[in-house]
Amino acid sequence: MKMVRVDGRGVIAALVAVLCVVVAPVAAAERATLSVRVDEPQWVINRNIYGQFAEHLGHGIYGGLWVGEHSTIPNVRGIRKDVVAALRQLQIPVLRWPGGCFADEYHWRDGIGPRDQRPVRVNSNWGGVTERNAFGTHEFMDLVEQLGTQAYVSVNVGSGTPQEARDWIEYMTSDSQSTLANERRKNGRDRPWKVAYIGVGNESWGCGGEMRPEYYADLYRRYSSFIRLADKHAKRYASGANSSNYDWTEVLMREAGKLMDGISLHYYSIPNGRWHGKGAATGFGEDQWASTLKNTLKMKTMLDRHIAIMDRYDPDKRVDFAVDEWGTWYDPEPGTNPAFLYQQNSLRDAIVAGVNLNLFQAHGDRVRMANIAQMVNVLQAMVLTDGPKMLRTPTYWVFEMYKVHQDAHALPIRLDTPDYHYGDVDIPAVSASASIDAQGRVHLSLVNLDPKRSIRIATTLSGSHATQVSGRVLTAPQMDAHNTFDAPDQVHPVAFDGAALKGQSLSVQLPAKSVVVLELR
Ligand code: AHR
Repeated sequence: MKMVRVDGRGVIAALVAVLCVVVAPVAAAERATLSVRVDEPQWVINRNIYGQFAEHLGHGIYGGLWVGEHSTIPNVRGIRKDVVAALRQLQIPVLRWPGGCFADEYHWRDGIGPRDQRPVRVNSNWGGVTERNAFGTHEFMDLVEQLGTQAYVSVNVGSGTPQEARDWIEYMTSDSQSTLANERRKNGRDRPWKVAYIGVGNESWGCGGEMRPEYYADLYRRYSSFIRLADKHAKRYASGANSSNYDWTEVLMREAGKLMDGISLHYYSIPNGRWHGKGAATGFGEDQWASTLKNTLKMKTMLDRHIAIMDRYDPDKRVDFAVDEWGTWYDPEPGTNPAFLYQQNSLRDAIVAGVNLNLFQAHGDRVRMANIAQMVNVLQAMVLTDGPKMLRTPTYWVFEMYKVHQDAHALPIRLDTPDYHYGDVDIPAVSASASIDAQGRVHLSLVNLDPKRSIRIATTLSGSHATQVSGRVLTAPQMDAHNTFDAPDQVHPVAFDGAALKGQSLSVQLPAKSVVVLELR
């Protein structure tokens, strides 16, 4: 049995209890205990943890979001109505664009002005396909407004200039009578837009320029100075580390920490843990279920270690940590362009999402943004489209169930969970997080990583006055259950009847391979 404690400072300690060897394995594997300190609310769970990412990649933009004004697919100024309606249900707090790797070869002037006069480029990162630039700044900002979200714009550091970056910001955000602001007006937008977050390059250690951290730190200082001149309000986020490259965070915090509002992390869950032969999105065995979840849980170590470095340079926790790319990455679906990163999304993805979101909330005094990759048709998507058809994925439903945590206060929890074993994988079977919202309702998210065994969780809610519990569960008979265009509702949440509340004691029978979100009031 593993004990996972989440205390008031967000420190999670995992201890292996030696005595578990003398406990009958079946009994030990079916029971967990959880205590939630309802009367000790912690940090506000920044709603930006529920952020999204949309890149010019495959059908992430073209076909998935943008169909053009003359399409037979119902649209508002070229943007799909069905996709926007589905995404609005998620209360998306922030949307990152235009990349990803695409951001460091994107020149914003290509995407303004009359659409039929925009240049056609090659999207060299993602299959060498032509980029018509039909979806540019005005179209993105229209999408932001249709979704009711905030803009997180990544500027081009790899192949651009500080002047180009600052001009783009002035074009978007200036209320002056400058030539750039008037050019925006001439192109159809009178009022300035708000750009809440600016990413200074993307993966500058890789596709963004193969830089060394010392070099990028200097570039960050240079770019951010001129971005600041154009917009004093936008938060500036530095391009952060690749997974466990702690040296990147160390150098950036040391050399540029005082000039940044945030720094990012990119980490993907890959079944086989390698870039060649990652593993399939569906049709996998329990070995790949287990290895995917084991690799997902590495996020916890990365958060702990990157944050520990940040804490040394920024003990007041002024600088945000933004996991602005995360999610599953599988082999592309057979028959699709491998550069389009199109993959199915199954119950396993829902479990990955629930586990990661619980981790982000547990580190929410530093993790103030996360952007799953990516919103539509790419990697671990919310929705998939095929011509006029659209489906919601299991991951979509996790975001829909978890949205109750947005801007609520995190609650400290202590969880004693059995392990889930398969082959050489040995990981905690239960993942959990809890919050209390402005109305005093407690929300409890529980994930069972074990695909075969349900787990009874005896929960103590200290300081709770709740008298009622209700909730929903997301599960399915198969590990790779997924939604298709012909059967779009195979995996969706239903009412949960496995919870019983008596005073401050809550008993939950958590089904195998499930995500449950409970509300106590
Ligand atoms: O999300 C797909 C790609 O993954 C992004 O373009 C890049 O930043 C990362 O390597």
